[in-house]
Amino acid sequence: MCGIIGIVGKQPVAERLIESLKRLEYRGYDSAGIAGVVGQGRVERRRAQGKIKALEAVVAEQPLVATTGIGHTRWATHGAPNLKNAHPHTAGRVTLVHNGIIENFAELKAELLAAGRTFESDTDTEVIAQLIDAELATGLAPLTAFKATLDRLTGAYALAVLIEGDDNLILGARRGSPLVVGEGEGEMFLGSDALAVGPFTNRVIYLEEGDYVALTHQGHEIHDASGARVQRAVRVVPASAVMLEKGNYRHFMEKEIHDQPDGCQRTISAYVDALSSTAAVPGDIDFAALERIQIVACGTSFIAGVVGKYLIEQLADLPVDVEIASEFRYRQPALRPGALVIAMSQSGETADTLAALRYCKSKGMKSAVVVNAQESTMAREVDVVWPIHCGPEIGVASTKAFTAQVSVMIALAVAAAKQRGKIDDAEEQRLVKVLLEAPRLIAEAIGLEDAIKDIAADVAKARDVLYLGRGPMSALALEGALKLKEISYIHAEGYAAGELKHGPIALVDDKTPIVILAPYDSWFEKSASNMSEVMARGGQVIFVTDTEGVKHAPAGAKVVVTAPASDPLVSTLVMSAPIQLLAYHVAVVKGADVDQPRNLAKSVTVE
Ligand code: F6R
Repeated sequence: MCGIIGIVGKQPVAERLIESLKRLEYRGYDSAGIAGVVGQGRVERRRAQGKIKALEAVVAEQPLVATTGIGHTRWATHGAPNLKNAHPHTAGRVTLVHNGIIENFAELKAELLAAGRTFESDTDTEVIAQLIDAELATGLAPLTAFKATLDRLTGAYALAVLIEGDDNLILGARRGSPLVVGEGEGEMFLGSDALAVGPFTNRVIYLEEGDYVALTHQGHEIHDASGARVQRAVRVVPASAVMLEKGNYRHFMEKEIHDQPDGCQRTISAYVDALSSTAAVPGDIDFAALERIQIVACGTSFIAGVVGKYLIEQLADLPVDVEIASEFRYRQPALRPGALVIAMSQSGETADTLAALRYCKSKGMKSAVVVNAQESTMAREVDVVWPIHCGPEIGVASTKAFTAQVSVMIALAVAAAKQRGKIDDAEEQRLVKVLLEAPRLIAEAIGLEDAIKDIAADVAKARDVLYLGRGPMSALALEGALKLKEISYIHAEGYAAGELKHGPIALVDDKTPIVILAPYDSWFEKSASNMSEVMARGGQVIFVTDTEGVKHAPAGAKVVVTAPASDPLVSTLVMSAPIQLLAYHVAVVKGADVDQPRNLAKSVTVE
């Protein structure tokens, strides 16, 4: 989604704004822009369609000499991704950037047009600038005019605003989209997340829903939605610059695939007691008393939830429903207070997941979130936070967050099984030891990279790719297909292998690679039969199995990828690396923009 930075500083601001926007590139964007107060309170803008490099070129040609300014990377919602719709937007004395969607913009625009105002863009954002300017024109002070405008907006926003005539001022506000204040030495910052202000300070304040703020060199003045002046806690964020570097890797995605043994290790350590080999899930959830679990999530996080369903139901005999949040939030699902809702979200800000979570809470359900961004909106609204500890994920395609989420699901399944009396002490200890071994096996699976690179050149020529699996591998089939299509733009479908005969088998021909995910588990024989059915129809099978499965696999696969053998408890963790690496190397062969695939945003804060 859109990225925001604001600086009330003492040093030249243009380069600093651009440096911050580069950190926000991972969110996905189609245009970028900056604005600064250039003297005598005058504000100027520089904008460009496309990459930050294009904006840098514009600024090199027409330098922006200012010490206070705002910047934005845009992910289009209203209005095409072109120059005239790029932020910042200006109306009269007001220049601003916005993340979110103003739902009542059409009605506000009609009113402003009727009052004789003219618009230069097709965005909903410009309406906000026009409204503030209209309020200023009535003689209101900037902060009062800003608040009067906020009160008229329906929808979601994070805003950073410059007012002509006020060199030492940035206004900010959040509702539905996150915004942080960064405290520097004699300068202040505003950012859409802590990474945005990371190059300048690690002291941040996470604004609450409805907060608005005035920043000057001297400090900040925060008000809550009612207008009351409030203090918010300052947190020191370990925004380790090192974690945001690619190191020797070509792409963040590649680095993050390789980060997984560490990320899972750190996550697992937080959910088990390694000394006693017992599950030690933080928070006061009584799994024995729970009637069911409702998981809500989107995209890859949804798929991690599906893996969780398989494991929790099988081990703990506890019913789990998993649903795509965008469907769940609007279909009035039948919910009961005795259930626990678990939101799964890397960012903790995904609009649909947040809305689904709030819906469950409104029905009296206890709530938890499995989340990477521990200061996110979801983390602040739930009863129990179950963090993943894989570090910031920058690549748009989720990899290390997925395996860390699955690690948490495994620990929950073991804890729930023990509390519900479905496993004894010895079995709990065995399972925890299996889980603790998983990072080593993930590292071994990553070692298959060279073999997978060889397959990638062929897969890159395909028009369609089919992924099949049974049990938890059916979820991984969905994940494999999602990874491939989002970064290589090859059409891919993931199916439960048993569904093959009910439709997808019609797609099988000698040009369609078919990735079958089949570790040697209780589903193996069935998956092997599916492999034979596919091969009998000329299908080109890439058989991803393990060292046990390879001994029992039918002959004839075009390629066999042999991952290390693992207990079914952790096989989704081990088998993730090969499918992530396949998608990654196919995208590299195709020359695709791996870390910022077209049209995608890292954190989807609009519905
Ligand atoms: C796919 C991917 C997305 C996200 C989805 C949910 O690689 O990254 O499908 O999983 O947008 O995002 P979070 O987990 O932040 O709620």
